Amino acid sequence: MQASGLIAEIQQLKTQKNALILAHSYQRPEIQDVADFVGDSLALARRAQQAQCDVIVFCGVHFMAETACILNPTRTVLLPDLDASCSLESSCPADELSAFLQENRQKNYYVIAYINCSIQVKALADVIVTSGNAQQIVQAAPADRPILFVPDENLGAWVAEKTGRRMTLWHGACHVHRLFTRDQIMQAKQQFPDAEVVCHPECREVVRLLADHICSTEKMIDYCRQSLAKRFIIVTENGILHRLRKLVPEKDFIPLRTGSCGCAECEFMKLNTLEKLRNCLRDMRPVISLPEDLRLRALAPLQRMLDLSC
Ligand code: 13P
Ligand code: SF4
Repeated sequence: MQASGLIAEIQQLKTQKNALILAHSYQRPEIQDVADFVGDSLALARRAQQAQCDVIVFCGVHFMAETACILNPTRTVLLPDLDASCSLESSCPADELSAFLQENRQKNYYVIAYINCSIQVKALADVIVTSGNAQQIVQAAPADRPILFVPDENLGAWVAEKTGRRMTLWHGACHVHRLFTRDQIMQAKQQFPDAEVVCHPECREVVRLLADHICSTEKMIDYCRQSLAKRFIIVTENGILHRLRKLVPEKDFIPLRTGSCGCAECEFMKLNTLEKLRNCLRDMRPVISLPEDLRLRALAPLQRMLDLSC
């Protein structure tokens, strides 16, 4: 079926089912365009918590839909493709974290978990962060307890540097962001000497060192809009380019090429398609369902994050 036919069906089903479509900025352009709201992990979590509709269709990866369900359990939360996982989430299995905490219980770690983790890991954490609020949340951590930051060692190292808080870092990383290299950025800078480098904090330190600005996907939009520069080298997943070009049309955005597809793409994010979105609204599945005791344990650190971040 043509995209226009699918879009018309999605709009019709959305009204029929009283659904809200949320999409992350790494989603395919056509999904971003059909969504009611597009944002980063923090904005999406907030929007999901406030949702009054019967159904939330989450176009993103599994931990994001799970977070929506933790925060707003009386809505039906759908994820178009249940296989949309995340390499950061996989890099921190809950049983390994639990064993580590058990072995080191005398340290009494304050556990800070990046939102890119499973509900079981969230349930073991004291507080959650996103790339949009990590500095603020880490700054507010109790001064008399050692911090364990999971699962992203790159985001953790960046926040430690920004806040001056020492942290033990779990050795996890995003398979998309770890592929960016110093050489690629140097080459792009040579080709476009007037361009500023804007980079996601999931990138490695050698890459972050070359950035003019480091921030979450949402803050990239504000930064590029406000900066005096006219051209930007964007060091993150390529889905954000659609939003940047749409919201800041007067400026020029240069992607970096990595990975087997040569286009810095998160294959998990791209699993969602218009067809799967239509199917999930039509069939009302796959549904995210969570055991209530686990949901409540994961809700506490998530709510702490939302209360602490402005
Ligand atoms: P943001 O919250 O900055 O959108 O990051 C989410 C993510 O998965 C980055 O890889
Ligand atoms: Fe996870 Fe990386 Fe994909 Fe973001 S880009 S969802 S961190 S695998």
